[in-house]
Amino acid sequence: MTVTAPLLPSWEALAPLLQGALERRWITNQGSLARRLEDELPAALGAAHAVLLTNGTAAIELMLKAMVPATAEQPAQVIVPAWSFVATWNLLCDDPRYEPVFVDIGEDWRIDPDAVEAAITPRTKAILAVHPYGLPCDHDALTNIALRHDLRLLYDAAHTFGARWRGHPMGALGDASAWSFHATKVFSTVEGGAVSTPDPALHERLRRARNFGIVPGEDQVVFGTNAKLDELRAAFGLAVLGLVPDAIAARRQVAHWYDTRLAGGQVPWLRTARDLVDTPELQPNHGYYPVRIAADPGREAVAAALLAAGVHTRPYFGETLFRSTLYRPWIRPDELPQARQAARETLCLPIHHLLTEDDVDHVCTVLSTVDHGPRVSR
Ligand SMILES: Cc1ncc(COP(=O)(O)O)c(C=O)c1O
Repeated sequence: MTVTAPLLPSWEALAPLLQGALERRWITNQGSLARRLEDELPAALGAAHAVLLTNGTAAIELMLKAMVPATAEQPAQVIVPAWSFVATWNLLCDDPRYEPVFVDIGEDWRIDPDAVEAAITPRTKAILAVHPYGLPCDHDALTNIALRHDLRLLYDAAHTFGARWRGHPMGALGDASAWSFHATKVFSTVEGGAVSTPDPALHERLRRARNFGIVPGEDQVVFGTNAKLDELRAAFGLAVLGLVPDAIAARRQVAHWYDTRLAGGQVPWLRTARDLVDTPELQPNHGYYPVRIAADPGREAVAAALLAAGVHTRPYFGETLFRSTLYRPWIRPDELPQARQAARETLCLPIHHLLTEDDVDHVCTVLSTVDHGPRVSR
């Protein structure tokens, strides 16, 4: 059993789109399929504007560069959670115009607004918050802080397609959001991404920036890169987009099966997101099913027992921030206790639109026997 499964289009839906691109002999450079998909994005994300991009990492980097102008002489501090995938942090660490300020999370993996407020200095220019596992972070608290301190509020929304905060779609939140449409995400273009924003000027700037900075026939006014999405991946996205609501509903059902077997201390050493983040304003997309595992029996023992029973899991996001020497300049050994603990305890169980109740039963049966020796095999 794999930890996730990509949402695939039917061949009947995909083939005519691909065939059209081949007949037109137009396979990249803002072709009609990429433009069509981009036109669908504002409604899909709940945003006023959206720019379609080649992946979520490019989306984060272009969003930061456009929204947080800075120089190497006066680097801008950007507050980020110490619990994310490295793509959230890499530009901030690698580009001398930026300085990451890592702050701690709550037990529920989401950025801690009090830690954000405490980390603000005169050089802070932006908050780049993450909605981990499709769990929206505390948007009201972060907006309040951003407004009081005149900071940009940016989101890494890589995990968040289809989630909602107080009924609002995630693309409606903050100054801008960066999305990933990687194959492991709820909506995918195989590899792909976007930036959504309410700001038409940012939208226009990003449209230029993804195409080397140029608009044909006009003088170049921004530096850019090549972050365009090609026609083949746009076809995949168009053929899959309509399937997403049913896929999220199927994931919700899987999460419910897990919750009824695991939440509320039924496995005494395991806590689910339902135990940790049961707030009504938050409607996750069930992109992941993270759990926290106590030191006894320990995450590695649990992952090994599941693997022996044919169940793959992932310790996502892992311990990279604390183990890699690359991040040492910004991380002190006595800091960020919650994120360090999450890095030791978190395991993502299988969840996707094709899992059955029998599959969930199997995972939960293995979990219930981890302490007691005999392993269930399949
Ligand atoms: C939180 C987060 N941000 C950013 C990214 C990068 O997205 P992409 O793989 O599309 O570049 C990922 C990828 O999984 C992610 O998990």
